[in-house]
Parts: sequence; structure tokens; C-alpha cells
Amino acid sequence: MFSYYRGDGEEKLASMVSSLYGDQRVFLFSNARTAEYIFLKSLGLPVGSNILMQAFTCNAVVNPVLWLKLNPVYIDILPKTYGMDLQSLKERIDGESKVAILQHTFGIDGEYSEHIEFLKSKGIYVLEDCAHALGNGELGVKGDAAIVSFGIEKILSTRVGGALIVNNPELLPAIEIEYRKLKYMGWLSTFTWLINPVIWRLLRKLGSLQRVVSLLLNRIGVVNMGFYRSELKGLRPSAYPRKLSPVLCDVVIDQLRFVDDNLKHRCYINDIYASALDVPHLRGVSSVRFPLVIKDLGVLNMAKKVLDSNGVYYGDWYNPLVYPASTSIEAMGYKWGSCPVAEEVSRHILNLPTGFSVSKTRALEISKVVRGVLV
Ligand SMILES: Cc1ncc(COP(=O)(O)O)c(C=O)c1O
Repeated sequence: MFSYYRGDGEEKLASMVSSLYGDQRVFLFSNARTAEYIFLKSLGLPVGSNILMQAFTCNAVVNPVLWLKLNPVYIDILPKTYGMDLQSLKERIDGESKVAILQHTFGIDGEYSEHIEFLKSKGIYVLEDCAHALGNGELGVKGDAAIVSFGIEKILSTRVGGALIVNNPELLPAIEIEYRKLKYMGWLSTFTWLINPVIWRLLRKLGSLQRVVSLLLNRIGVVNMGFYRSELKGLRPSAYPRKLSPVLCDVVIDQLRFVDDNLKHRCYINDIYASALDVPHLRGVSSVRFPLVIKDLGVLNMAKKVLDSNGVYYGDWYNPLVYPASTSIEAMGYKWGSCPVAEEVSRHILNLPTGFSVSKTRALEISKVVRGVLV
């Protein structure tokens, strides 16, 4: 039934996304990792080519590289932007480096102008990862292409979908060929995604049983947690790669219409945290989550306990530094010790919520609770 519904959602969504990013060509997928996969595949790179990416990321960024038998090369990060460090990039680049994935972590500008200039001078393609920055048209327009996500725990609460925005027209013909080969998501997974928001709302009422019940439902395919188990080991699930179902395009459109308000709200809440917790350089960011590094692990654990007892849903992107927990770091090809700053930040990170569920009063309460632990 869902496979037969077409409507005009697909065209509308592509055009809405395109208008946010300088009217460039947009391709829609079931998630951002598929957008990255198709981008890389369309380049026809030799097996074993090096793909430069930062540590302190998600396995969804590394996996498309592994699925194509390419080689992830991890670059260290700058603590200020949580993005790629130019110096570390220069040290790790070599003749086999073909693509760099520049991640705007948490929606913070990675300040990549110099990186991009350098990479272009070496003939290396640039994919900007704007999975956390959907709707911020200042990010994602300098590289050859960019990915955005409509998926779980990102800017929108649609939970599913992603897009590839192509800035370099020379790359379009090969991407079009790959895109034409794809099927839409199947009706069962489309249906599962449609009912997921309702299921999650019910699951939240289960309190401490939520985790066990959601894992069980995930096993039988009724609840989608954003990852298949095989992805933890770097394997490609048979459900990828797919185009986003037209009916789900309609769902994304409903939320994307309010993306400006969404980003304004996030910026407002972000600024409350930045002032209260004394992180002035993060002011003015529409962060998908507000990152806080707490040096003392005892204090970090205490902060988590206090937030738990106040019913605050906080996050731990990215701990471990290839997220989520139980991702096989070996399968991801990361060598411990190779990116010391990313490892250190990963151990000490705490993310505070910035979405519509957090009001000004709540953000002030959360700041007060965290400040109380920090002093
Ligand atoms: C930095 C980053 N890029 C890309 C992705 C992939 O997004 P999606 O879940 O839409 O595949 C994620 C996923 O969590 C992410 O954190």
C-alpha cells in the first residue's frame, strides 16, 4: 500500500531542501548514511582508497566507507569546534586520499574554509556532513556536496530520511546513475517508521522497563532505534541503500516547514546554557545538542545522576568516539591513541537538550542543576 502511494511529496521535499542550500540539486534517501554511500559510490574510487574523517563521530559516517571497501583515515579534532583539526589533517593526508568528510558536529560550524582550500589544491573531494545542521544554509555550501539528516535525534523529530545536496555539477551525472538504480524503502519499513513516534511515546511511559521492551521490539522489527545490529560491526544491512518513501517525504515536509522556528528555538536554549555554564564561544549556535566537556569524571558522573533525578534527557554523543556504545572500534578501523584529543573529549562529554521540549524555564533549571555540580 505504502509502496503504491506517490503523491508529489518527493518533488516538494527536494525543492524545499534545495531552496535552503542555494537551489542546488537534491537527492532523497532513507537516511544520511545512504546519501553518503551513494556519493562515495558514484565517485567509482579504487578499493582501499583513503577517506579522511574525524574521530568523534558516529558509525553511520564510517560504515558507508567500509561498505565500499574504502579505508577510513581518522583525523583528530579541535576541542573548540568538535570538528576536524587542520594540522592533523595535513599530517595524515597521502597520495591515496580521495575524499574528506568534514563534519559540523552538533551543528557547530567546523570553520572549514582553509581545510577546503587545502583539500581542493590536492584534488581531494569534500563532502560536508551537515547531519546535525539541517536548515542552516551557511553550512554545506562550500564542499563538492553535503549530507543532511531528517533522522533520529537530529533537528527535526521525523526520525527518518536524509538528503544529498550536490554543489559540484560535474558529479551529477554519476550520482544520477546510482540514484536511478535504487528502490524505495519497502512498505513494512515505511509503515514501521510511520508508527514509530506513537510507539516511542508509549515506551516512554514504561520508565525503567523502556530499554528492555524497546530492544525486544527492535529485534522483531517493530521499533527502529536508528541502527541495525549489523552496523555495529561495520556491515551493511540489506535495507540499505534505499530512496525515501514518498509518504515519508510528506511527513518530513510537515516539519521542515518550521525549521526556521526550530533553529531559532535551539539557538535561544543553546545561549541560555552558553551563558549560564560559561562557554561563550558557543553563543549563537543552533546546536542539535549543547556539548559540555567536564574534566573531572567524578563530577561528570554526578552531573548525570543529578540530571537523571531531575528527569532530564541528556546525551553522550560521542562516547565512545565511534558511536554508539557496542560499536566495534576494531571493525571501524580506529587505532586507540591515534586521535588523543578526540579520545579525551569523548570520555568527558555531556550533551544537553535544546529541542522544542525544553522551555526557557526548563533550560534555566537544567543550567542551575549542572552549575550546582560544577562549582
Ligand atoms: C555526524 C553524523 N553524520 C551522519 C549521521 C547519519 O545520519 P542518519 O542517521 O540520517 O543516517 C549521523 C547519525 O547519527 C551523525 O551523527
